[in-house]
Amino acid sequence: MHILITGGAGFIGSHVVRHFLGRYPEYVVTNLDKLTYAGNLANLRDVESNPNYRFVKGDIADGKFILELFAEHRFDAVIHLAAESHVDRSIESPVEFVVSNVLGTVNLLNAARATWNGAFEGKLFYHVSTDEVYGSLGSEGMFTESTPYDPHSPYSASKASSDHFVRAFHDTYGLPVVISNCSNNYGSHQFPEKLIPLFINNIRLKKPLPVYGAGLNVRDWLWVVDHARAIDEIFHRGTSGETYNIGGHNEWTNIDLIRLLCRIMDRKLGREAGASEKLITYVTDRAGHDLRYAIDASKLQRELDWVPSVTFEEGLAQTVDWFLANQAWLDEVTSGAYQHYYEKMYAGR
Ligand code: NAD
Ligand code: DAU
Repeated sequence: MHILITGGAGFIGSHVVRHFLGRYPEYVVTNLDKLTYAGNLANLRDVESNPNYRFVKGDIADGKFILELFAEHRFDAVIHLAAESHVDRSIESPVEFVVSNVLGTVNLLNAARATWNGAFEGKLFYHVSTDEVYGSLGSEGMFTESTPYDPHSPYSASKASSDHFVRAFHDTYGLPVVISNCSNNYGSHQFPEKLIPLFINNIRLKKPLPVYGAGLNVRDWLWVVDHARAIDEIFHRGTSGETYNIGGHNEWTNIDLIRLLCRIMDRKLGREAGASEKLITYVTDRAGHDLRYAIDASKLQRELDWVPSVTFEEGLAQTVDWFLANQAWLDEVTSGAYQHYYEKMYAGR
C-alpha cells in the first residue's frame, strides 16, 4: 500500500504520518507538502530516516505538477490534510484559502480520478475536514453528520466547498471517498497561532494573553493523537461515500480553558498561583466569531468503536510538557515572519 499524505509537515499531518508509519510498517508513505509557514520538517525528525517514508515538496494548487506526481507514483490511497488552516489569517487573506483549500483539493481529486481511471477497487481518497463547516451552535444541540452546512469564515467556507467537491467526485465519477469532520485539535507541534500553543508561548514569555470578546465562545477539544487514531479506523474500516464526525465530547468556554492552562503552567514553571491569570487581556472579538462548536461522534463510536484515549486534563498537561521540553522548536517557529504576523494580528486589537 502506497499512501499519499498531503500536509504531512503540519500539525495534524505530522501526527498522521507518524501514526501510519509506526502502526503499518509495510506501508509506504509519501508526504507532499508545500512547507508554508505552518509546514516544518522538524516535526518529522523522528521518522525521516524510515525507509518507507518519502518527502516531496510541492504545491497542491499546481495541477500539472499534481497530475505528474500521481502518474509517476500511482498511489493506492490519499489522506488529504494540506490546507490553509487558521481562521484569523483567512479573514486577512481569503484568496489563499480558495487556492490551496478548494483548487488544491480539486487538483488532487482530478489526479486520483485520472490515475485510477475507473479501477477503484482497493483505492480511497480520504478528505480531512472540520466541524466549522456546520456553522455555529446556540447553547443546545450538537453537530451530526446530517447537520446542514452553514460556514461563516472564509476558512470554513473554503473547507465546505472542498467537502462538496469531494462528494461531487464520488457521486459523479464513482471515486471512492470518505470525509471526516473533526473538532478543535490540540497537542505537540501545533503552530503557535492557534489558541493553546499561542497562550503557552505567551505565558512562558510573560506576554499578554489576548482573549477575543468576552471569552465565552465554546470549543470541543480533541487530542491530536486521538484524531490520528480515528483517521486510521475510518481509513481502514469506514464506508466509501460516508462522512464521520470526530470529537472529544469535551466542551470548554475559552476563558475556562485559559484559566486551566494558566494553573497548569504556573505549577510546571514554579510560579506563584494566579501569576499567569494576570496576563489575561480582553481584546476586540474576531469578526464573524462562531459561538459554539460541539460534535456528536456517536456514529464513529457505534460503527468503528472509536473513543478518545485521554482526558482533557491529561492531554493538556502532556501538551504543556512537550512545549516546555521543546522551547527551541517554539523559538525557531516564532522567529522571523512570525513577529510580523503577530504585530499585524494583535497590535490593533
Ligand atoms: P497546519 O496549518 O498545521 O498544516 C497545514 C499543512 O499543509 C502545512 O504543513 C502546510 O505547509 C501544508 N500546505 C498548506 N497549503 C499547501 C499547499 N497549497 N500545497 C501543499 N501543502 C500545503 O494545519 P492542521 O491544523 O494540521 O490541519 C490539517 C488539516 O486538518 C486541515 O485540512 C484542516 O482544515 C483540518 N482540521 C484541522 C483542525 C485543527 O484543530 N487544527 C481540526 C479539524 C480539521
Ligand atoms: O473546529 C476545528 C477548527 O479549529 C479547525 O478547522 C481550524 O483549522 C482550527 O484553527 C480551529 O479553529 P478555531 O478558530 O476554533 O481555533 P483557534 O485556536 O484559532 O481559536 C480557538 C478559540 O479561541 C476561538 O473561539 C477564538 C479564540 N481565540 C483564538 C486566538 C488565536 C482567542 O480568544 N484569542 C486568540 O488569540
